[in-house]
Amino acid sequence: MSERTLAIIKPDAVKKHAIGDIIASYEKAGLTPVAIRMMQFSKSTAEGFYAVHKARPFFDSLCTFMSSGPVVVLVLQGDNAIKKNRELMGATDPAKADAGTIRKAHGANIEFNAVHGSDSPETAKFEVSYFFPQTDIVG
Ligand code: CMP
Repeated sequence: MSERTLAIIKPDAVKKHAIGDIIASYEKAGLTPVAIRMMQFSKSTAEGFYAVHKARPFFDSLCTFMSSGPVVVLVLQGDNAIKKNRELMGATDPAKADAGTIRKAHGANIEFNAVHGSDSPETAKFEVSYFFPQTDIVG
């Protein structure tokens, strides 16, 4: 079933000039970008996006990191896009990620882990609409 997921190329990966490599990975896996936006989050944009993690001890540090530099936000479309992107990213902690995954290749640790991807259809709906009005999504 074709579906959409939200991906973020995080500030650490943008700084390492890994944007092209990561987008190539999405395309090779059959995940088609249907919206792309480069931006720098404000702290409050990051806090709103990660609101579900508000009570976690890493929340403030995560939001500081996510607003520390430019990011690339994408909507990816394809069959089972949510699950496919999570497999392609690898485990949240790059040390535990399988070989060949984006986090294994580009992540440094559980916080500086290169990419984000929606984890469920409900989350994907919220996350896509957080950054993109329907009119900015093609296909
Ligand atoms: P992400 O997929 O963007 O979703 C939430 C983020 O919180 C996650 O990737 C990690 O970057 C971060 N995160 C999760 N667990 C921890 C942790 N124990 N310490 C620091 N950051 C974490």
